Amino acid sequence: MEQRKPLFIANWKMNKLSKEVVAFVPIFYEAIQSVSQKCEIVLAPVAVYLSKLIEATRSTSIQVAAQNCGGAKSGAFTGEISPVMLKELGVNWVILGHSERRHVFKEDEALVSARLKAAIEEGLLPVFCVGEKLEERKSGQTFAVIERQLKGLKELSENHLKALTIAYEPVWAIGTGENATSAQAQEVHAFIRQWLSKNISSPFANGTRILYGGSVKADNSSQLMAMEDVDGLLVGGASLDPLSFGEIVKKGLNS
Ligand code: 13P
Repeated sequence: MEQRKPLFIANWKMNKLSKEVVAFVPIFYEAIQSVSQKCEIVLAPVAVYLSKLIEATRSTSIQVAAQNCGGAKSGAFTGEISPVMLKELGVNWVILGHSERRHVFKEDEALVSARLKAAIEEGLLPVFCVGEKLEERKSGQTFAVIERQLKGLKELSENHLKALTIAYEPVWAIGTGENATSAQAQEVHAFIRQWLSKNISSPFANGTRILYGGSVKADNSSQLMAMEDVDGLLVGGASLDPLSFGEIVKKGLNS
């Protein structure tokens, strides 16, 4: 089985001004020095500070992600940032289909799929987010929702899909303080991996990282990461503080 190196991503959402973005890096990097070779770490600031963060992380192993990208190379798409532009800045990663994009900004499957295709074509590494709402979980729809969100992946070639990371973020766990239990996370992660195996291929399923996100903190990262199919964490609120995110990484690696 292929190795799935642990991956920790900080999604800062619409937080942190440029000074805070830059100040985060040395404190965080020092905190995770001892484990930096054992994992990959990606920070996702708001788009206007991507360049600042790339500069601030230049002599480190920390990588940088955008929180979204446009679905075309260029054109009449006011407010969008194309994957070509992100690449030009030196950004390698992009978060796509985040629940806030899907539910607050009403991005539908077709739009998320177009963004994903454009990102992959430009050589970005997408973190494709899926997850059910509370009422969907309560009515037993979790797997059906996840399956619907994953369906667009079938249109991409396996060669293109190599770049992909998936993140399971149950909507009811995001920013609520109520994380999925490690058993709940494992159940959905295993379902996602089975779906990938059936619909793409078994080597692809085995080699693809599936991250968990939703109220991850230093005191639950170790239990979540202990699950067989949890390969990393996508962290919102608790990633804003460098020492807190550092603890999440270290505890997640059991170091
Ligand atoms: P919280 O960690 O604040 O719940 O946010 C999770 C998230 O949305 C990460 O993308």
